Amino acid sequence: MYGDEDGFREAAHKLVNGVADYLAELPARPVWQPLPDELRTRLLELPLPEHGVPEEELVTTALTDVLPYPMGNGHPAFFGWVNPPPAPAGVTASLAAAAMNPSVVQGDHADVYLERTVVRWLAELVGYPHAPGAGLLTSGASAATIVCLAGARGRALERAGHDVRRNGLAGAPPLVSYAPAETHSCVPRALTLLGLGSENIREVPLPDGRLDVEGLRAAIDRDRRGGALPALLVGSAGTVNTGAIDPLDALADVAAAEGIWLHVDGAYGAFGVLDPAIEARYRGMERADSLTLDPHKWLGVPVDAGCALVQRPDDLRDAFSLIPPYLRQGAGAEIGTFAEYGLEQTRPFRALKTWATIASRGRAGIAAQVARANELARELAALVEREPELELAAPPQTSIVAFRARPEGTLPDKLEELNHALPQTVQARGRAFVTGTVYEGRETLRACILHPETTSEHLALLVEEVLSAARTLTAAG
Ligand SMILES: Cc1ncc(COP(=O)(O)O)c(C=O)c1O
Repeated sequence: MYGDEDGFREAAHKLVNGVADYLAELPARPVWQPLPDELRTRLLELPLPEHGVPEEELVTTALTDVLPYPMGNGHPAFFGWVNPPPAPAGVTASLAAAAMNPSVVQGDHADVYLERTVVRWLAELVGYPHAPGAGLLTSGASAATIVCLAGARGRALERAGHDVRRNGLAGAPPLVSYAPAETHSCVPRALTLLGLGSENIREVPLPDGRLDVEGLRAAIDRDRRGGALPALLVGSAGTVNTGAIDPLDALADVAAAEGIWLHVDGAYGAFGVLDPAIEARYRGMERADSLTLDPHKWLGVPVDAGCALVQRPDDLRDAFSLIPPYLRQGAGAEIGTFAEYGLEQTRPFRALKTWATIASRGRAGIAAQVARANELARELAALVEREPELELAAPPQTSIVAFRARPEGTLPDKLEELNHALPQTVQARGRAFVTGTVYEGRETLRACILHPETTSEHLALLVEEVLSAARTLTAAG
């Protein structure tokens, strides 16, 4: 190795021991705590060192100044956003991946094969068909969505006789997308980035979670007759606010009948299909033209690990392939390089931590964890319903519970203020961590259960903390 081998071993051992202590002690620490002012300032104002600092000293700094102040998602009473704790097998694999430090694009090195396999495993886990080359790992679902929708855009325009890679969007018919209101923001962001325009996104109403097929087809027909090009239908296999699964089978029927690309956002919820209790709700996901997954969500692969899957590899290759002469490699595999299917040229070794995380639990272990999280969500919903000062915003379908506080006698606008303030008040108390959102126009708390060691006691603690914080806020006026 280059550098000081003994120094590396010593520093690495010290770090591994420190990290193991950190992980072991997490559940006994506050879920989250603010940085002391002095430390925040010190970290912000760290001067650039002129001379190298010994590695062991760097490890000491990391262990004393950085690790004690995490986001909170390692703790079993963390219910915020969609952030799980890291799977230990993924943490150790990250060290080995960094030691190899390949660019996972092409060539006869282990990382390339492992990513092919891991992508196939992910497709297998969620029951999505997989052809070699029909997917790749990304930095997350946001990036995977851009990848998938670039494929969708190219295909829709190709059918209209327009070559977007050659001509851009100038002269192309307006491409229309259809997406339910609860679609994650990464979808409209991808669409606007791809030049499709937010004005060309139509909302698909889903009253009580049901699709009005005739209504949607009539809207598509109107757009067609108006000279636009209906291009994309979007569904969620687990919305971010409530974890609801859209009627994917009905959406797939409309997409097939209208010849429109169906994209399913499975970033949070696709792995829920492993729970036999709700598996049936996912029918139709396997028919999507593209599907995004986030192994760094429910599976707990250390960030970052997203995944884009498509039915037909060429839909991506035709959108992205561009090989400059300096990157040509004689005997490439027929399916080409990863860089021909997505946004990145130099690509990190995300597959090792994903492989380790999945393999350390196996399909059965992951399925049990997913089913357990869903069961806990139903239990939390029952606790909420039992409390007169709380109300459910929606019955949980997966492992997210959306609910509100409603202390007796509080006026509606005060209720909005209260529910808006609640998450931060709960977080500051340090015993449980929950975040908020706006659902159906109202301030709402949402608890997302992803930690394999969350128990019924943590749920009771969350309810207690929310009630207690609500009383404090109400008393303060
Ligand atoms: C349903 C859903 N879709 C997409 C995303 C975006 O994923 P990422 O943060 O990995 O880009 C999220 C993130 O929380 C999500 O919950």
